[in-house]
Amino acid sequence: MKLRTPAYIFIPLTMLAILLTFAMVTPVENIVEPGFKGMIDNSIAHIVAALKQGVVWAVMAISLVMLLIINAINKLVESQKFQQLTEDEKAEYLAKKKKGYIKNLLSSANQRQTKEEEEAIIIDHGFDGIKELDNALPQWWLSLFWLGIVFCVVYLLAYGFTDFAHSDVEYAQEEKILNIKDSIWAVENDITIEGAVNKFNDPAVVEQGKLIFNTQCTLCHMEGGKGGIGPNLTDDYWISQVNDSLFYNIYAVIYDGSPTNPQMRAFGQRGELSGLNIEKVASYVYYINQVEKTLTPADGAAAPQGELVEAWKAKN
Ligand code: HEC
Repeated sequence: MKLRTPAYIFIPLTMLAILLTFAMVTPVENIVEPGFKGMIDNSIAHIVAALKQGVVWAVMAISLVMLLIINAINKLVESQKFQQLTEDEKAEYLAKKKKGYIKNLLSSANQRQTKEEEEAIIIDHGFDGIKELDNALPQWWLSLFWLGIVFCVVYLLAYGFTDFAHSDVEYAQEEKILNIKDSIWAVENDITIEGAVNKFNDPAVVEQGKLIFNTQCTLCHMEGGKGGIGPNLTDDYWISQVNDSLFYNIYAVIYDGSPTNPQMRAFGQRGELSGLNIEKVASYVYYINQVEKTLTPADGAAAPQGELVEAWKAKN
């Protein structure tokens, strides 16, 4: 008769496995740092997050009760089987039990079945003299098998029917964190006019500037900057001349607003656009003014306003 796995081994191990299963599917807010320490930190964060869930404690409590019941049944089965043993077998079993579970487990690695034991479990088929023994599956293997099934059920339910471990939800959470990090970065690395660089010949920046222009500026300057409430930005006439360089003049008007007309508000000072975004949109305005065709009233654009500035005239 085989020795029963003692309660002090299989109950804590099963409880630990249940806790780890929940820990694996519990999302956490922290961002995993690479390396061994990151892995440990992340695992601890998962376990702590799992322990904060009421449902985890409930499942663990129910499991503990069930394990205690299983243990009681096993004890009963053991004593009944014990009654049926011969005196010799009883003595052998008691000796094994006295040796302790762990010692038995370690020595079992070198134990082989006797010839008689093998005869008893041989399966009645074979090929080329190869025979098969009907060995019982090891308990640890079976435990893993059942735990695998439990994990699947927990994971499937959590993933399919709740927000608990759903990758879309995790993605949204992570995106939120990254956006916060992003805005912190943008604030810490924001620029003013001194740090701004004219990037009109970087198509990616011009494209981003156009996007900002289309959401923030077309209301008054119309699409492509052809002018409406705000002046035509494609021609060579300028109302505000606050800087010697065209690009920095555009940047300054967007950052500080027009010195004479409050309709052109101070997007930078009011915090509506960051310095970095003003750099992009100013590059775009410079681009439509210098590279793209000048739009005239004949194209449906606004008539020139302000003075003709020779030095800023488009080169083409
Ligand atoms: C509420 C309407 C309005 C919005 C929105 C607006 N502007 Fe203006 N903008 C004006 C007006 C009006 C002027 C002319 C100001 C003046 O008379 O000094 C102007 C002037 C300018 C000038 C200087 C033109 C010149 O001839 O001196 C630039 C450059 C400019 N705007 C860019 C932008 C950009 C870029 C945006 C978007 C971030 C924007 N504006 C949003 C109304 C607006």
